[in-house]
Amino acid sequence: MTCILYKIYMFYSNFQFHTMYTKNLLFFVCVSLFIALLPSCQTSEKKSERTADSASVKTYISKTVFGTADNQPVDLYTLTNENGVVAKITNYGGIITSLSVPDKNGKMEDIVLGYDSLSGYLKSTPYFGAIIGRYGNRIAKGKFTLDGKAYKLDTNNIGNHLHGGIKGFDKVVWTATPTEGTEPSLKLTYLSKDGEEGYPGNLSVEVIYTLTKDNSIKIEYTATTDKPTVINLTNHSYFNLTGGKADVLDHDLVLNADKYLPVDKTLIPTGIKPVKGSAFDFTTSHKIGERINDAKDEQIKFGGGYDHCWVLNRTTKDSLSLAATLSEASSGRKMEVYTTEPAIQFYSGNFLNGSITGKGNIVYKFRSGLCLETEHYPDSPNQASFPSTVLKPGETYHTITVYKFL
Ligand code: GLA
Repeated sequence: MTCILYKIYMFYSNFQFHTMYTKNLLFFVCVSLFIALLPSCQTSEKKSERTADSASVKTYISKTVFGTADNQPVDLYTLTNENGVVAKITNYGGIITSLSVPDKNGKMEDIVLGYDSLSGYLKSTPYFGAIIGRYGNRIAKGKFTLDGKAYKLDTNNIGNHLHGGIKGFDKVVWTATPTEGTEPSLKLTYLSKDGEEGYPGNLSVEVIYTLTKDNSIKIEYTATTDKPTVINLTNHSYFNLTGGKADVLDHDLVLNADKYLPVDKTLIPTGIKPVKGSAFDFTTSHKIGERINDAKDEQIKFGGGYDHCWVLNRTTKDSLSLAATLSEASSGRKMEVYTTEPAIQFYSGNFLNGSITGKGNIVYKFRSGLCLETEHYPDSPNQASFPSTVLKPGETYHTITVYKFL
């Protein structure tokens, strides 16, 4: 704009005037033009100031295109906090695709398993980073009875129903709403229709991921239904605190649990047992590899390592309390898991066998990642002594889990 005004001035000063009259007339035209253009000049200057201001405002959440699934657009959201922790989450399956946290020297590395692109997740995935639902872990034979009515779910794991069935919440496109701020969050919603995978009731689900200032990923799950149903939501992130440099056998684990659920050979719980004196006692810190090959322990044999549910010691029902602490000496990384849930599934990556090549061309070998899935007990719909997983119309399912990096 300043440039246009300057050109008007130059035109006036260089003009060869024939008469005083033309000179005065032109002077009048130029001054009028100048006055007319001045306000717009000021507005555009103000606009450019605003652009400069907004450019300097820090962005804590951004979005890029990740691909298409079920003919719907899929995006990848990048959440960053002021300490430089970065979480990438896609609305396909609500998957945490990457989580970069500092080591003891402040070096950021991605400590979760997954794929570089959406096509990896679409082809085949052992639930890397995903939201699991409607029911985390197994329901025996895919059958249960609720209010006298028998339901038959899809079976996808040696005759049992696992992680919500053939197309669970890990394989659907969620609606995403990002919220900007120093604690950026991503709200994901999904309507699971009555009859989906055999479950009763239209279930409205909301999952909010928040990256907090204290380097935690907080996951808040909420759901309501229009018919009685069963529900057990969790997240299936595979952690490796070395950032993929070694397997997880040298990680140290503490589980705040005096009891666990032994299983049959199809991994359905058969009861509740004290951990004391067994390879399942993580009440004090133990290396994961220390007792994982204890051939004498039938439970280790059934799980192919650890693939069991621990019953958390709770002083109060439903409050957010410490469930697990995972640390790794060479990186100095430490993760605490807090939850409102009554139990945690510790799965030591026993089905990883080198057949998957993940992010950055890393081959995911045997036990190269582990899951700490907060949950209600597997097969609760068939086991009356377990805490109920029934959700009725008018009730709200609400649980919180926090993965905190220290
Ligand atoms: C869960 C189960 C395991 C296995 C993994 C996915 O944690 O308990 O048995 O199915 O998911 O591979």
